[in-house]
Amino acid sequence: MTRTSQNSKLYCVDRGEGTPVLLVHGFPLDHTMWNHQIDALASRYRVLAPDLRGFGRSPMFGGDRATMAELADDLVGLLDARGVNDPVVLCGLSMGGYIALQFWQNHAKRLRALVLCDTRAAADSSDVAAGRRVAADRVLREGVGSLVEGMTPRVFGASTQRLRPERIEPLRRVMLSSDPHAVAAAQRGMADRPDMRSRLGEIRCPALIVVGREDVSSPPAEMRTVADAIPGARYVEAPEAGHLSPWENPEAFNRALLEFLATV
Ligand code: MLT
Repeated sequence: MTRTSQNSKLYCVDRGEGTPVLLVHGFPLDHTMWNHQIDALASRYRVLAPDLRGFGRSPMFGGDRATMAELADDLVGLLDARGVNDPVVLCGLSMGGYIALQFWQNHAKRLRALVLCDTRAAADSSDVAAGRRVAADRVLREGVGSLVEGMTPRVFGASTQRLRPERIEPLRRVMLSSDPHAVAAAQRGMADRPDMRSRLGEIRCPALIVVGREDVSSPPAEMRTVADAIPGARYVEAPEAGHLSPWENPEAFNRALLEFLATV
């Protein structure tokens, strides 16, 4: 556990040596969604895979809303506390990608390269944002069960559901054990996140965009527009994967990530 400021602590896997690669999980997950990447990278890179506030083994702190900018600040606090002074390769999935874009906006000097996985640069529509706020209140009243049951068929790709269903249960269990306060705070923070589409052209660091070909939450067509808007960005689709491409097709994902890391 790393104390990042007086009132906050974050759990973080910290393995290997070399260029730091910071892996930021999606919602409502924890660092274990990166297990295949941690194993593949740690012999060549310093891999940091935290649990965001209230998720996994990290205690909850802060108020009832965790903005994406605050979660990015948490990451800077973590890097400072762990003595990571070199700019990092920041790899974020979905909510982790929303946080990565805020990290870029507010802490660009700490960034060596950006990997955006199964995420969006657009803000929520007002309907989606309102739905998140309702869902946040419900989770606090009733627990995370119904939210997770509703999400599971949407986040895993059709191929995973049909051919590799055993890949679903470990992450479903992680989701079901999430702290309702963390889930509600993250939902409210995501509902309020800014639209970053008009800023993508300002990104100057190397960037890789990866999306599962069967992702219905942040579909390939939308992620391609993100890649097209970032100067020089690479774009890769992982076959037979949905919204959780690093977990569903680690072979394809790791190949793309390692090839990209060799260039930055
Ligand atoms: C995630 O995987 O982090 C979620 O799909 C993000 C979201 O709800 O927008």
